[in-house]
Amino acid sequence: MTDTAFATFVSPEFVRGLPKAELHMHIEGSLEPELMFELAQRNGITLPYASVDEIRAAYAFSNLQDFLDIYYQGASVLQTAEDFKDLALAYFRRLAADGGVHAEIFFDPQTHTDRGIAFGVVMEGLLAGMDEAERTLGVTSKLILCFLRHLSEDAAFETLELAKPWLNKLAGVGLDSSEVGHPPAKFARVLRAARDLGLKVVAHAGEEGPPAYVWEAIDVVKVDRIDHGNRALEDAALTERLVRDGTTLTVCPLSNLKLCGVPSLDVHPLKRMLDLGLKATVNSDDPAYFGGYLLDNYLATAAAVGLTRDDVVTLARNSFEGAFLTQAEKAERLARLDAYVAAH
Ligand code: ADE
Ligand code: ZN
Repeated sequence: MTDTAFATFVSPEFVRGLPKAELHMHIEGSLEPELMFELAQRNGITLPYASVDEIRAAYAFSNLQDFLDIYYQGASVLQTAEDFKDLALAYFRRLAADGGVHAEIFFDPQTHTDRGIAFGVVMEGLLAGMDEAERTLGVTSKLILCFLRHLSEDAAFETLELAKPWLNKLAGVGLDSSEVGHPPAKFARVLRAARDLGLKVVAHAGEEGPPAYVWEAIDVVKVDRIDHGNRALEDAALTERLVRDGTTLTVCPLSNLKLCGVPSLDVHPLKRMLDLGLKATVNSDDPAYFGGYLLDNYLATAAAVGLTRDDVVTLARNSFEGAFLTQAEKAERLARLDAYVAAH
């Protein structure tokens, strides 16, 4: 008999109410087709789609690059600070409905500055959405600036310069976009410069790239968290190292499914990661493109791989422990989690 035969399966309502954080979500990836259309109209932009249904039909991806091509095109409707604020608030409303109480959101400034949108416009809009979410929904958040790794190191340094007046509004920097062919070491110097400015450092690694990229992220770049990390499991010594260091992995199950990193959710490695002692968390990555927000990721994966109530509580606990919050802020949220678990 398998372990799961004895396990207590978890109710969706329990998971919804469980306080949790999201640590891997690209704000541009939360742009729903309806808002894309609305913003296109507001800004006089013509989209290459006739309807929301046509946009959704285009969301069939065979790999990361397929998705990125469509995702960067979608972001072209974002023009004003108000657009970025509306985008952020729409995400926070969904997060709050899913029991999310804290989020650390990625944004891709180069996607916007390269088409003439000022860095400050993006920041003002996102920060206004974050402020309003905290006031009206009680959801706290932090911003992580991602460098696009298909662009050059020089371009990343230019973006870091643009970020300097906003340093006290940023929690960290990350690396996203096309992974294969663009290893973390390509950006070691700019990431070091960001760390010297007081920022945390994360990197997408082991999403499509090999275990060697995860080694580089931890040994060369010395990241504070690994985004994805799935392919680390191919290397036992690497897995052991991540367990020993207690490195948080921001895992994104529905993203892995949609980008064909796994053939089906039943074989997703999340449960295995927990059983190995890895500090895995659950996240939505680009929820508007991958068919689900934070709660959908928890529930779909729980059903597919047989997560227990204890597993789900561990995932939520890991999300706070791995967050870029102070010890006191983590303790406050973990106490809320413990009180919820005790009461349910
Ligand atoms: N940008 C947005 N989503 C991404 C992902 N899953 N991997 C790399 N870059 C991204
Ligand atoms: Zn991502």
